[in-house]
This record gives sequence, C-alpha cells and structure tokens, in this order.
Amino acid sequence: MTSETIRQSFLEFFKNKGHIIVSSAPLIPENDPTTLFTGSGMQPMLRYLLGEKHPLGRRIADAQKCFRAQDIDEVGDNRHTTFFEMLGNWSLGDFFKEEQIPWMFEFLTKEIGLNPRNIYVTVFRGNEKLKLPRDDESVKVWQDVFAETGIEARTHDFAERDGMRDGRIFYYDETKNWWSRSGGPEQMPVGEPGGPDSEMFWDFGPDLKLHENSEFQANPCHVNCDCGRFLEIGNNVFMEYMKTETGFSLLPQKNVDFGGGLERILAAKNNNPDVFETDVFQSLVSKLKELTPFYRGSTSIGATSIGATSIGEGGAQKIIRILADHLRASVFLIADGVRPSNKEAGYILRRLLRRILAYRIKYDIHADLFPEAVNAVKEKFGKIYPEVTRTKEILTVLEDEKQKFEEAIGRGVKEIEKYKEIEGKEAFYLYETFGLPYELVKELAPAETTRNLAKADFDKEFEKHQEISRAGAVKKFGGHGLILDTGELKAESEEKVGKAVQLHTATHLLHWALRETLGKEVRQMGSDINPERSRFDFSFNRKLTPDEIQKIENLVNEKIEADLPVNFEEMPKAEAEAVGALHFFKEKYPEKVKVYYIGTDLQNAMSKEFCGGPHVKKTSEIGKVKIIKEEAVGAGVRRIRLALAL
Ligand code: ALA
Repeated sequence: MTSETIRQSFLEFFKNKGHIIVSSAPLIPENDPTTLFTGSGMQPMLRYLLGEKHPLGRRIADAQKCFRAQDIDEVGDNRHTTFFEMLGNWSLGDFFKEEQIPWMFEFLTKEIGLNPRNIYVTVFRGNEKLKLPRDDESVKVWQDVFAETGIEARTHDFAERDGMRDGRIFYYDETKNWWSRSGGPEQMPVGEPGGPDSEMFWDFGPDLKLHENSEFQANPCHVNCDCGRFLEIGNNVFMEYMKTETGFSLLPQKNVDFGGGLERILAAKNNNPDVFETDVFQSLVSKLKELTPFYRGSTSIGATSIGATSIGEGGAQKIIRILADHLRASVFLIADGVRPSNKEAGYILRRLLRRILAYRIKYDIHADLFPEAVNAVKEKFGKIYPEVTRTKEILTVLEDEKQKFEEAIGRGVKEIEKYKEIEGKEAFYLYETFGLPYELVKELAPAETTRNLAKADFDKEFEKHQEISRAGAVKKFGGHGLILDTGELKAESEEKVGKAVQLHTATHLLHWALRETLGKEVRQMGSDINPERSRFDFSFNRKLTPDEIQKIENLVNEKIEADLPVNFEEMPKAEAEAVGALHFFKEKYPEKVKVYYIGTDLQNAMSKEFCGGPHVKKTSEIGKVKIIKEEAVGAGVRRIRLALAL
C-alpha cells in the first residue's frame, strides 16, 4: 500500500460513514493568534468543537497538513518529523465512543489490513482529585471489537509500571491519555476544550531489539515506552469537557476528535518503523543519498568543510533524515505563504533552511538540494496539495534565502576556522557580526574548539550587550512576543528598543488592568510587541464597552504616574507559581524562571509575571499610553492594541 492508497481509503471509509470530506486548512492558522502553526487536525475545527454549527454538518473528515516546531530537535530518529499529514475525523456532537472505536478498528484491520494482534490501545484511568472518571466505556467497546476477532483484550493499569503483562488495553493517567491543545487537564486554560483519549499503537515486535538499545532498557517495555517498538498510529479524543475556574464543565455537545499520522499508519502497514523509508519520502531520500558524498561511502569530508569528523552509518542516516524532513517542511511552509524572516513562523522556516545550508557546507554537499526537493515534493504531493506545484515561486524564496545565508556564513565560516577555542564571547561575536546563530556555531565548529562553549555563557554575553534577541524572543519575553530584528535595530536606533521596552512594561500593566476590570478569568492568549505598538490577545467573550476601555486605559496611566519600581527575582518555577505570578499557558518554562513584578516588593506587587524582560526601571519612564483598538480575533478571544501617547 502507498500513502496515496491509505489517504484515499481513509477518506472513502469515513465518507461511507456519513462524513463530509473537507480539504486541508493552511499550515498558518487563520484567525488564531494563539499558535504559529496548524499542529493538529482539530485546530481549524475549534469553533465547531465548542458548539458553533458547522455549515457542512456534524461529521467531517480530512487529511490535514500539520507542522510541529516543538519537534525540531527530535528529528533524526526513525519517526519524528516537523511536517506531517494527519488523517482526521470528527463528530461535532453526533456519534461518540460506541461508533468511533469500532470504525477505527474496522478501518485499521479491514481497510488497511493491519493484524489486530499487533494493535494495542490505551484509555484514561481517571483522576479522583480532578473529579474525572475512568473511561470504562471505551474499554467495553474495545473489548467487544477485539473479541470479534478472537482476541481476549485484557486490561492492565500502567500505574503499576510493570510492563505489558498480558494486557491489550492499558489504563494510563492524564499525562498520556488526555488531550487538549495545551496538554493535560491541569495545563488547560479556562475556556479550553479537551477530554480523555484512547490511543492505538502498532507493535513492531520484540525482535527489533530496539528496547535493548534504548535509554529505557532498565524498565519493562510498554506501549508508551520511547524505545520505538511501539508506534502510536492514532488518537481518538473524546472531547466533552471545558476547563472552568473551578474544574470542568461539560461542553454543549460531545465531540470526537480523531487524528492519526499518515506516515505512521503507513509504517505500521509496511511493518517497518522507519517513516523515512515509506513511499512518502522515498524519492527525496534516495536523491539525497545520491547527492551526499558521505552517504556514497566516503568518510573523508572535503576540503571546504570544517569540523571534520567521521560520521559513521548512524550519523549519515540521521543527517539524511534531518535534510529530508527540513526540505519537505520548508517547501510546504513556503507554499502556504511563510517567508524567511526573523520572527514568528518566518524564523522557524529560516531555522530549517539555515540548518540545511549549514549541513551543505559542513558535509561538503555540492549539489543544490533545493530544486531537487521542490521537484520531489511536487511529484509526490502536487495532486493532493496543488499549492506545492508553484515551484518557480517556491524556488525563488529558497534561492533568495540561500544567497543571504551564504554571504554571511561564507565569511563566518572562515572566521570560525581562525579560532582555537570558542567560548561564549567568541560565539556571541560570530553571531553579532556574521549572523551565525549559536546552534550553528556549535554545529559547524570542530568539536575540540567548542568544548567549553556553553549556552549560558553565550546568553550572558547577549544580555551584556543588551541586544534584543531574534525569534528566541518569544520565549525570552515570557509570552509577550517582543520581536525585534537585531539587524534592523542596529541600522535604526536605540530609540526603537526603548519604545518597545516601554510598551513591554505597559503590556504587563494592561494585563493587570484587564483582570481588574473584567475579572480574574481573563487570560493572556498571545502578544506581540514592536516599537510602534503592543498587541495583546486575551480570553473574553464579548466586546468591551467604551467605558470599560476608558477605565482600563486610565488604570494603566494611573500606575504609570504612580512611578512604581519594576524589578525581577529568579526562582524555581513552583515558587513563582506559588507567589501568583501569571504565565502564558502555551509556553514551556524552564525549572528556574524570572518573575518580573511591578511594585515595591514581590509579595504585594500588583503585577507579577513569568517574564524574561527587559523592562523599564520605573513605570514613569513609560510616559503615557493609549488604547488604539479593541476587536475580536476568534471565538472568545479579543485583541487590544496599545501605543505610547505622544
Ligand atoms: N487532536 C488529537 C491529536 O492531535 C487527535 O492527537
């Protein structure tokens, strides 16, 4: 079976079950400021899962293009990719567990022809503290469908952490068997829908010896083990809850949100755990093998390369996988309108492209990989996703970026060769002067010169120079995407940085004032600051009245006039939560965080937020601000634009 057959038979199958087939939404979400990319099939369905009527009915299915930037560092193993296709079907308040589970089983075992003996499933074990029940309903349905094929499906609770026993159906806690866009029940912000889920796994069999090589070898293997023996091939989310201030309420309707990776179902069908060996990647991967000297058996790396090390078979395979993934993902991102830049989605694209280009230098790949990738993607996907057939336009974007990169890096790379030792200071110089990101310096320089190079030292240099970082800024600014282009900053003036910093502190005041005026359930949903204005998105379900807007603006200006000090303290994350510091639910924070507070001491400060700064020292430095706009940006999300009043 090929990817085309599986995609097609999935859609046909659900069409026959009364579903309307819709086409994939773009990789950049429309009207959703909370995420940079469409990372799951349900994202474009959000409002319908919350209860709004879908114009095409209550049963929908599709193949959705997805991109998960958070998986970039995982790429290189046999199953992680940044871009992938998710097959999905939805019940929008129509059928539920009793239909979905037998259908999925029928699809996998009859349509695709997977052997049911290699399929294992998981269900939610419930959580008394959170008053969420165990999902025995799903267990019952699974047991019935397995019984029809002569398999007695025993249950086993993974809380005992004692491996598979003879279980077929495993109970796991909410860290594994609960799904929402923001993670488990405790991570969900108020207003977010979610629910218990039931996942399906394919067993590639114990002879793969994967477990023996795995870092998990000390523990008995189980379906959610990371060794690679088991592959999750689909997830049925029973989305019936919504997070409230006090716990959970039922959504107006019970939904099903199914998603399964096309490449992974294909890997199961091939009974080969390597998704890069499926037909989806075949022509691109074989082209790459042909074009890369190290893959052709040469272990000596050419004269232009640096950091010459023997890469070995495993290393070569990893590099090919990274190149294949990044090339395919970049073509799809560009086809959906993303352009390389220093912020948001554009920066992620730039990161993918720069890594590809750096690998070309490092591994002495002379061939131009871009035209090959553009053609391979067009051949494989053009019929399903016609946007990737605009090859000329896509190639122009790629070549442009290549040119930009090569000018800078050509000089940067030569510079690297001059160093016997690269530490934080040198790495920062390479960054500042040639635009070589830390990751690339680390990747490109010979290992012995970067022995003592630590990210923390680089960051220190960075702070010392009071530069405002590029895309890393989204993280550094604690969710306020204070995003500035360093290049631009240098060319323009420090004044712009100053304005952005004023607006950054003003945004903390705005967040506080909104909660004072509209209620504590108001949550930050996203934010973006530039020297001209701050854009702040928050959860709230109606238009603000002119009085409310005036009141909020006045509150912010009062606090500016009060000339309050702005300070930060660094502390463990748990402690920061305990003092009531607000944070942005989408962010993953490190164990140690900075809490910025406005007021004389942390305990009694009016505003406390997880945040990387920078901020003004005293609120009076802001001068005065004005709310310039208030509008809706999605279901239950409002946007305020704030500017400095001159
Ligand atoms: N939305 C679910 C997921 O992404 C199906 O796993």
